[in-house]
Amino acid sequence: MDYEKFKEGIKGCEKCKLHENRTQIVIGDGTKEADILFVGEAPGRQEDKKGRPFVGRAGNLLDKLLEGIGLDREKVYITNIVLCRPPNNRDPEEEELEKCTNYLDKHIDLVDPEVIVPLGSFATSYILDKYDLDGGSISSIHGEVYSVSNLQGQFKIVPQYHPAAALYNPELEEVLEEDFEKVEENI
Ligand code: URA
Repeated sequence: MDYEKFKEGIKGCEKCKLHENRTQIVIGDGTKEADILFVGEAPGRQEDKKGRPFVGRAGNLLDKLLEGIGLDREKVYITNIVLCRPPNNRDPEEEELEKCTNYLDKHIDLVDPEVIVPLGSFATSYILDKYDLDGGSISSIHGEVYSVSNLQGQFKIVPQYHPAAALYNPELEEVLEEDFEKVEENI
């Protein structure tokens, strides 16, 4: 399926209750020709307003981390595991994840990346489970490089702390910078 048709087809999604409070669905950003697919958790207030992922404070840090490895948003693709803002930025609920992850699966098929970078524990556990990989807490597996070889080809998965975590715990910014180098080494 064509990317524009995919976006058009899901923008009125009402499969879970998150549609009731959203301003708009936040599908993704960047180029579908990207070699790297970043997967965050869910849109926040700014993202819900602007219709683009990672445009608030966590997004500024993501931009800085990308810049640190010589990339910018136009060269990657960024989406979230849940495409509508949960009220008060609460964690996504099981039912919301269940209803929304097929959109992430579709993104993976369309972008067909060489590296998938899940940001934070929700995206990481979904992506590792999807490919039958053993996970663990994000604090133990951040920066690990998982290799996958299946019918779709070969690609890597490099889980990261969520950039928002570094806004609360500034020591994590340095850890993220080091872990982003693992992404650079695998493209
Ligand atoms: N945090 C996320 O996980 N995604 C966004 O789009 C913004 C903040």
